[in-house]
Amino acid sequence: MAKTISIAIDGPAGAGKSTIARRLAKDLGYYYVDTGAIYRTVAYFFDLWGVSPKDADAVRRYIDELTVGIEYDEEGVQHMIMNGMDVTGDIRTQDIAQKASLVSAYPEVREVLLDMQRNIARKHNVIMDGRDIGTVVLPKATVKIFLTASPEVRAQRRTKELQAKGQKANYDQILKEIQQRDYQDTHRDIAPLKMARDSVKVDTSELDIDGVVAAIREIVNQKVAP
Ligand code: DC
Repeated sequence: MAKTISIAIDGPAGAGKSTIARRLAKDLGYYYVDTGAIYRTVAYFFDLWGVSPKDADAVRRYIDELTVGIEYDEEGVQHMIMNGMDVTGDIRTQDIAQKASLVSAYPEVREVLLDMQRNIARKHNVIMDGRDIGTVVLPKATVKIFLTASPEVRAQRRTKELQAKGQKANYDQILKEIQQRDYQDTHRDIAPLKMARDSVKVDTSELDIDGVVAAIREIVNQKVAP
């Protein structure tokens, strides 16, 4: 099998990873793999069961009851399948994001999801975004990007994004949640959010989407012939 190309995009919540990765994947004809959606699906599963993400015993006991699937529709949109049910729309709330951050700290949870992520990258050219893609999931990724922005800019963007979807959004509350999630995601023992030594940092605070896509295209073109 021909060797596949993988572009890892890591960074904190709200840095613009999914918007940028989706655009790049479309431009390049690669699969876009949103790994945050996988952890959100796990969080949603425990939420439905009424299990607190802080209840380590219950998380460990019930994780084997969960089957997570990823499917792509004809437009290339990633769908999350939880025990046979499409939960793609259900996982996009601040509450589930927060619970995903907690549940993703358990080694037992991360372990069962690792092969699934690696298998996609083995079969297809991918742009994969998350927290530990360049450090743990695909340490040999062709290109590694660390996308970041100030917490205030990220909170502003997230507020607008939720409002555009008709969801309630309060900037101060979202900023607090982002800071809390940053703390949890960077301080956990296993696969914490951190920049891989060989990744390129792109700060998106002062850039619009086109600017970020252009900057990353340049980095990608240096490693992968266009
Ligand atoms: O990218 P996101 O906001 O949808 O991610 C939700 C949470 O999932 C995030 O706060 C931490 C966790 N996550 C992770 O631990 N590892 C990843 N590769 C992606 C997400």
